[in-house]
Amino acid sequence: MLNSLQKEILKLKEEKNAIILAHNYQTGDIQEIADFLGDSLELCIKASQITDSDLVIFCGVDFMAETAAILNPQKKIILPDREAECPMAHMLPAEDIKKAREKYPDAAVVLYVNTLAEAKAEADILCTSSNAVAVVESLAQDQILFGPDMNLASFVAGKVNKEIIPLPEKGHCYVHKMFHTGDIAFMREKYPDAVLLVHPECDQEVQDEADEILSTGGMMSYVAQSDLKTFIIGTEVDLITRLRRENPSKIIIPLLSEAICENMKLHTLEKLKNSLINEEYAVSVDKEIALKARKAVERMLDVS
Ligand code: 13P
Ligand code: SF4
Repeated sequence: MLNSLQKEILKLKEEKNAIILAHNYQTGDIQEIADFLGDSLELCIKASQITDSDLVIFCGVDFMAETAAILNPQKKIILPDREAECPMAHMLPAEDIKKAREKYPDAAVVLYVNTLAEAKAEADILCTSSNAVAVVESLAQDQILFGPDMNLASFVAGKVNKEIIPLPEKGHCYVHKMFHTGDIAFMREKYPDAVLLVHPECDQEVQDEADEILSTGGMMSYVAQSDLKTFIIGTEVDLITRLRRENPSKIIIPLLSEAICENMKLHTLEKLKNSLINEEYAVSVDKEIALKARKAVERMLDVS
C-alpha cells in the first residue's frame, strides 16, 4: 500500500507529464513509485527511449542524470538532490585521459559510465558493469585504457585476451570496497547452501571467492531465474530491498548490511515531491561536450 506522500508524488507526476527513473540503490519507498527501476545500462537504454514525457526525474547519481541529459538534450532532466554525486566518477578528470592517450597512442579508451560528461567526451566508448567485457571485445585494439574503476578493470582483464591498463591506477567505489573475504567466510559458514553474488566493483580477492560476478541488473535476473532458495548479495543494500520485494519466496541476505551508498540515499520522497513542484535541480551539460560524449554512449548502446 502506498503512503500519502507517494500518492501525492504520483498525482504530481501525472499533472507534469513526468517520468521517474530510479537506480536499484534507491530506497524502497522510491523504488515502489518509480516508472522504471534498473541498473546503469538499463537506465541508459531507457533514457535513450524517452519520447512522450516533458520532465525526467532521475533518482540516481550525477553521472546517470548527465547521461540522460546527453541523450535527451531537448528534455529537462532533474536530480532531486543536486549533491547526489558518485565519488568514483570524480576520480578521473578529462585532463588525465588526454595525458594517458599521449602515453599510449595505440590504446582505445573505454570508460565506465561512472564518469563525468567531460571525461565521457574523451572516451572512444563507454561501458557499464553488465556489458564491459562485450564492449572491450568489440574493439579492434589490443591495448585498452580502462577507467575509473580498477576492480571492474581487473574483472575485464580476467575475461579478455587484451592488455587492460587501469586509469587512474586506483579508482574505486567506497561502498564496494567495504566487502572483505572475512565477511564471506562468516556468511558461508552461516548459510552453507547459499549462492554468493558480488558486484565487479568489489576487490579482486572478494570477486575470487564469489559464485557469480554480476551487475545489479544481472543479480536481479539471476535470482529470478534460479531454482535455488538462498542468496548472499555483495552490493549496496537497497538492491536487496528490490530482490526481496520481487522474489518473496526466496531468502536474500546482504553480505554486509553496512554497505550503503550515502550519495544515492540523498534522494528522499520529500525531495522527489519538491523536484516535481519546482522542477529542480536541472542537470545541464555543455553542448559541445554533450555531442562528443553522446557518440561514446551511442557506440556502447550499439554493442548492447
Ligand atoms: P550497476 O547498477 O550498473 O551494476 O552499477 C552499480 C553502481 O554502482 C552504479 O553506480
Ligand atoms: Fe558511485 Fe559506488 Fe555509489 Fe555506485 S555505489 S554510485 S559507484 S559510490
